[in-house]
Amino acid sequence: MVSIIYVEPSGKRHAVNVEEGWSLMQGATANGVDGIVGECGGSCVCGTCHCYVEESRFTELPAPSAAEVDMLDTVAAELKPNSRLACQIQATAGLEGLVVTLPATQG
Ligand code: FES
Repeated sequence: MVSIIYVEPSGKRHAVNVEEGWSLMQGATANGVDGIVGECGGSCVCGTCHCYVEESRFTELPAPSAAEVDMLDTVAAELKPNSRLACQIQATAGLEGLVVTLPATQG
């Protein structure tokens, strides 16, 4: 399990133990975190799992695929330099304690 800290749009924080290999979208939706939808189930075609990754740890993540970069252009909330799609980030031991903030809207 990898502990991921999700910050809802309201500012409420959830520490969630996410199964290694699960996506951060799955970890959030399976645990009732508000502010994330995951409409396409993780296929990188809906953009409703937009999140902001803790800036100081952003470079620890593998680079986004071309498909993710394209989909990020369609997200509803403001796109920021630390924007990612949570369905494209796999929980790994190295991400222990990562803080992920959810935007005010997913569409
Ligand atoms: Fe659809 Fe991430 S869940 S793009």
